[in-house]
Parts: sequence; structure tokens; C-alpha cells
Amino acid sequence: MILGKRILLIVTGGIAAYKSLDLVRRLREGGASVRAILTKGGAEFITPLSLAAISGEKVYGDLFSLTEESEMGHIRLSRQADLVVVAPATADFIAKMAMGLADDLASTALLATDKDVLIAPAMNEKMWQHPATRRNMAALEGRGVLSVGPGAGDLACGEEGWGRMAEVSEIIEAIGAYFRTGAPLAGRRALVTSGPTIEAIDPVRFISNRSSGKQGHAIAQALARLGAETTLIAGPVSVPDPAGVDVVHIETAAELLSACEEALPVEVAVCAAAVSDWRVKNPATRKIKKSAAGKKGDKPPVIALEENPDILARLSAPGNMRPALVIGFAAETEDCVENAKAKLAAKGCDWIVANDVSAATGILGGDDNIVHLIIGSDVESWPKMSKQAVAEQLATRIRDRLTGPP
Ligand code: CTP
Repeated sequence: MILGKRILLIVTGGIAAYKSLDLVRRLREGGASVRAILTKGGAEFITPLSLAAISGEKVYGDLFSLTEESEMGHIRLSRQADLVVVAPATADFIAKMAMGLADDLASTALLATDKDVLIAPAMNEKMWQHPATRRNMAALEGRGVLSVGPGAGDLACGEEGWGRMAEVSEIIEAIGAYFRTGAPLAGRRALVTSGPTIEAIDPVRFISNRSSGKQGHAIAQALARLGAETTLIAGPVSVPDPAGVDVVHIETAAELLSACEEALPVEVAVCAAAVSDWRVKNPATRKIKKSAAGKKGDKPPVIALEENPDILARLSAPGNMRPALVIGFAAETEDCVENAKAKLAAKGCDWIVANDVSAATGILGGDDNIVHLIIGSDVESWPKMSKQAVAEQLATRIRDRLTGPP
């Protein structure tokens, strides 16, 4: 849910400042962009260079720097963000915020911002419990400043107790929760399958297909962007894992099925994977040699196949774990719409997305797609568009269906 979000991170001078590097890394992995302000105190603990290297952005520090002001004034800096995060927030900095002081870039940006602020306090327990800090925290809370932590445990000063900055994962969760609230699919769970499966013939050979995973991965990303907690179960593909999505990597159809069952319950399942219909009945444990006897002219081996489970049909079967909306794909090389309609009925899913994948269309492996969305007997034929655009449009339809009138 932090995908595409812009975070302004203020790092103040506490020992926990080193954790902010990991925070930046994790935020970026989740698809957020991070601009950082490092206070003078913060720069005693970590360097602007390490923060710049990890955030991939210039790090700001000095209110009175002519170059910084001309490149990006403190007002713009504080407003070109979706959320301002202060981590760690020291007792001193919290006091400054409560007072509304503006004597450095960080405190000035906080006074100038029109965005919400989340702080992760970090200090000694006595300082945290001190009436002055209690009053300052109450003042900030009264103004709607959000906070995460601190937790209890060993403190850097050698004492134990409350005051440890929240773990990076907790801060990420708090940021995620902030952005989830209000997102159209917030609180909804989605499952997407994508890419091919592969079935071993022997340890080095397998049966598979040409699915690139581009369409399924884009759908997972689009659903996550709408706020759905999304699990993507992906066969071996070369496209990267989408940000902001839980990705489970599988190889075989059997693994795909058990990963899907583990991801349940979900409200929507989109089966975009190109599942191998068959698997090898008895895969060889050793490489099958061209000639077992070492002489040429032996007959080619006969490979017996057995049917794989149909994951779409299983997910569509009635039962209390059935997702409210199950969507299948139908990759066809002839009679696209007719075959897809038959698949919709045979598998028991709610919608089917049909596409013509005959070689001439260039759809398999390409970046564009031409699809027909089949809902009952209605067929909507969408114009040719990028797989990304198909994903966005499908995610919007899913949103309308899940959040609209029944
Ligand atoms: N599918 C599945 N499990 C399988 C086979 C297919 O979940 N074992 C799903 C695919 O993810 C897709 C839909 O079923 O959403 C249709 O897949 P497709 O390969 O087009 O259909 P098949 O049922 O395999 O029919 P055919 O190969 O005969 O066209």
C-alpha cells in the first residue's frame, strides 16, 4: 500500500538513526520514494552520503543553504510528500515540534507541511516518562500527529525499559496502515496466479509454456495499488516481483494449488497463470540418457502424462472458502469468445478474460493485449492496449464489483 507514495523522512539525532537506513531500504522495496532530511544531531550518527545512497535522492540538511533552497525550498520539500515520517524522533525534537520551533530545516519543514506526520520516538525510558515529554506527546497527539512505538527492551544507554524505537517492520506497518485507510480496496484480500508452471521430466528437463507473467503480475500490482492485501503466486518468469505485493514463487501446478489454498480466504481470485494441464506421471530421478545402452538407434522414451489439478475450477467450487469473485483467463488460438464462454461454464468462475494468443497477434510475451471480458452471456471487447492498462481496467472493474451494490 506504500506503492508510489512519497515519504519525507526526518532523521534526528538518536542512536536508532542507523535503523532509518533500513527503513529507507524497506520503503523503497515497497515501491515508495523517500526524500530525507538529516538533522545536525542525526548526522552525528549516520552520514548524508549513506542516506543519499540508499534513498537514491539528495539528502537535505541545512535551512540556510542557498543551493538547497534554490533547488527545492523547504516549503516545497514539506509539501511534495504524501506523509512526513520522523524516525527516530528524539525527546528534544518532540519538544521542538510541540513548541512549534523552526530553527533548522527539519523543524521548519514540519511547521510548513500540510501533510500528516508520523513519529517514531526513541529515547531513554526516564526521558520518555518525564512529565515534559508526556505533555509534549499529548500536545502532538492533540494536533493529530500519529506515532508508532516506542517499544520496551534493552536501550542503547545500557538501561532497560520503554524507549526503544519501534522496529522497522512496525514503522512500515504503521505507514502501510495510514495509506490503506481510505484506499478503495483497503481491508480486502486478493489472490493472483501468474506465469507458467513447469513439470519435471527428469532432473534437467521439463514441460512448460511461453507465458511471460506480464499480465498476471500487472494485475497483482494494480490490485495492490487500490489497497488490496495481495498475494501473487508466480511461476518462473523473468519479470520482477511487483512492489507492495506478497509474492510466493512456485514451479509446479501442485505447488501452485497448495500455495493458493494457503492464501485463502480472499475476496477475489484472478487465475492468470498458464498452468500445465498435464504432468509427467513418473519423472525420472536421473537424467534420461539418449541411449541407455550407450549405442545409437534406441527408440525415444515414451513419457506418460497425468492430469494436473485445475486450480481455477477448485477455487470456483462452492464452499465457504470460495472467493466472492473468481476470475479466469482463457488463452485461445481459435474461436476465442466461444471457447472462453464454454470455459466460464465448465470451470464455474464468475468472469473470464479471453485473449487470442495465436502467434500472429504477438500477445504471448508481448507488452500489449487484446481481451474480451465475459460476464455471464455479456461479452465486452476491449480495444488493444498495454497489459498494464488491461490490469488497471480490470482492477477498477473488480473494485466496482466488490465495493458497489450487490
Ligand atoms: N487453469 C488452472 N489450472 C489448470 C488449468 C488451467 O487454474 N490446471 C486456469 C488458468 O489459470 C486460466 C484458466 O484455467 O485461468 C483457463 O486456462 P486454459 O489453459 O486456457 O484452459 P484449460 O482448462 O487448460 O483448457 P484448454 O487448455 O483445453 O484450452
